[in-house]
Amino acid sequence: MPTGPSALPSIASLPARVGETVTLEGWLYNKRDSGKIRFLVFRDGSGYVQGVVVKKEVPEEVWAASGAVTQESTVRVTGVVRSDPRQPGVVELGVTDLSVLSLCHDWPITPKEHGVDFLMSQRHLWLRSARQVAVLKVRSEVESAIHDFYYSRGYTRVDSPILTPAACEGTSNLFETQYTEDEKAYLSQSGQLYLEPAAAALGKVYCFGPTFRAEKSKTRRHLREFWMVEPEVAFLEIDGLMDLAEEFVKELTGRILDRRREELKRLERDPAVLEATCAKPFPRIDYRDAIEILKGKGFPVSFGDDLGGDEETALTEGFDTPVMVTRYPISIKAFYMQPDPKDPEVVLGLDMLAPEGYGEIIGGSQRIHDHDLLLSRIEQHQLPLEAFQWYLDVRKYGTFPHSGFGMGLERFTAWMCGVPHLRECIPYPRMLYRIYP
Ligand code: 4AD
Ligand code: MG
Repeated sequence: MPTGPSALPSIASLPARVGETVTLEGWLYNKRDSGKIRFLVFRDGSGYVQGVVVKKEVPEEVWAASGAVTQESTVRVTGVVRSDPRQPGVVELGVTDLSVLSLCHDWPITPKEHGVDFLMSQRHLWLRSARQVAVLKVRSEVESAIHDFYYSRGYTRVDSPILTPAACEGTSNLFETQYTEDEKAYLSQSGQLYLEPAAAALGKVYCFGPTFRAEKSKTRRHLREFWMVEPEVAFLEIDGLMDLAEEFVKELTGRILDRRREELKRLERDPAVLEATCAKPFPRIDYRDAIEILKGKGFPVSFGDDLGGDEETALTEGFDTPVMVTRYPISIKAFYMQPDPKDPEVVLGLDMLAPEGYGEIIGGSQRIHDHDLLLSRIEQHQLPLEAFQWYLDVRKYGTFPHSGFGMGLERFTAWMCGVPHLRECIPYPRMLYRIYP
């Protein structure tokens, strides 16, 4: 693996350097002292390694530095890489030299239990903890797996705009900004509307970027700024869309199991459900059947009700893979979703619900491709027609059936990691009443 511009080896590269004397730069993570021997755990972002300092084997000033160094001080350390006889594949460093580059005073995140509010206000420092590092590595792996998935299947990435003239996913959670003195703009809620014309140009496209929703409630599943990946495919219909969503989630999950085992272990994430997800077909349930299942479980629901977090959790109970729910009532879904020709009260929409209470990870649909039907839906939703003229053009000039979905990166990462709250799945979460740091 190339190590980048630094001439120094990374901690991750040490297992391949047993017997060598190496110099590293990084931070002190942890320290244990037993009189004549000190165990210092160093981290450099690539991994962790335990350094062993033996009093009678090092110069006096090195022994003194190992005593004075505090958690999160920056250090330069030299030592011999040795394999740990008790843990195959694990190495430690027999320290021969140690200098403290910057001594850290009063590190605020001590091992005692901190409240979440405190940790959130220290997010810039909290990022250094082993758990947060593991989550961010999983997130980054998911991001690169997303690009590999689409690239290897001939998709073109099309970046959609952040500043938009109109709403895509309803007007209740729009972030408004002043575009010019007399024109407003809204932060994008989804790149979908811009992908549909691009699908006519390029066939198979996807976008991946920040997405904004002015969510007015504080829940563990909602951020005000999150990252969404959205594929859009020409001539794909609802059944093919479900296949695509399933294949996508299976591939991303397999990639995490393959390359991020160590992080899952650090997060104490039982991989069983992720392994089942890769191996088994995902159940596909019609909304009408979902309502019956929920009634059977004692939920007071009927046709036309939206499914909340508790209903989603109940529907996935007993499954160790995600579940796909389709054919939702037209009244509770977005204006662009294609009504089912066999059952016009429902739309050819799809929600994928993750097991274990992680809720909706994917939302998507087949899109209306008939011009006049789409026009009537825009009118029914009382959307400003002028703002959607270009969107209607896609149906005016060579229309085609097409489908797509959106997956929230943080929702997916949370489920992979077994971390219940989205605030730990994005480096700097934006939530109601939280925009610092
Ligand atoms: O179901 P949603 O609203 O669908 C759309 O925006 C479509 N236009 C996507 C498309 O078809 N191209 O959002 C899609 C996904 C959800 O399933 C969820 O994973 C995530 O985006 N999501 C959120 N994640 C974090 N915080 C929020 N407030 C989210 N809202 C949606
Ligand atoms: Mg949705």
